[in-house]
Amino acid sequence: MDSRTRIEALQQLMDEVSKCRKCNLWRSRRNPVLGDGSVEASIVFIGEAPGYWEDIKGKPFVGSAGKLLDEILRENLILRDEIYITNVLKCRPPENRDPRPEEIAACSDYLERQLDLIRPKIIVTLGRHSTAYIFSRAGIPFKSIGDVQGRIYEVKFWETKTYVVPSYHPAAALYNAKLRDEIGNAIRLVGRMRGELGI
Ligand code: URA
Ligand code: SF4
Repeated sequence: MDSRTRIEALQQLMDEVSKCRKCNLWRSRRNPVLGDGSVEASIVFIGEAPGYWEDIKGKPFVGSAGKLLDEILRENLILRDEIYITNVLKCRPPENRDPRPEEIAACSDYLERQLDLIRPKIIVTLGRHSTAYIFSRAGIPFKSIGDVQGRIYEVKFWETKTYVVPSYHPAAALYNAKLRDEIGNAIRLVGRMRGELGI
């Protein structure tokens, strides 16, 4: 699929998400957040759901967790516009509460279509919700983010291999230096893989 077709398909998704009422979160959201970055990206990052600033700006990871993520990406020479970044849920849950299973079930079709358009070589799951979602899609048992973060999992979502690298969520690392280091290690691994895979 060429770049223009992908951009048009993402635009179509944005139109659908703007009108979406498939779960109750449309009632309290200001703006849905589809995703951001390059449609040609070989790396996709998946977070949990928009927070306060994302809901206001309509863009993913623009608040304090996003700033921390940017800092870690920069340290590893990964640019925001070389990747694509999105969330499991496209609308902000009130008070940033955890996503509910029925909300994830209602919203996941959008994430699936994004992934299918971009078909990344590497998927970085940020936090337990996106990790649990991607693991379940791949048929890999998931217990806790601590057990799996910083490792590489090979999955076959499309015709070629995709590598999944789970990480702690940057929001959890805002006041926790140890978690910040762990995220740094996971992203460093992604940077190395990118070099090795020549992507
Ligand atoms: N946390 C997320 O999971 N996603 C965002 O877009 C922002 C904060
Ligand atoms: Fe629709 Fe997803 Fe928003 Fe729910 S969270 S209203 S399913 S776009």
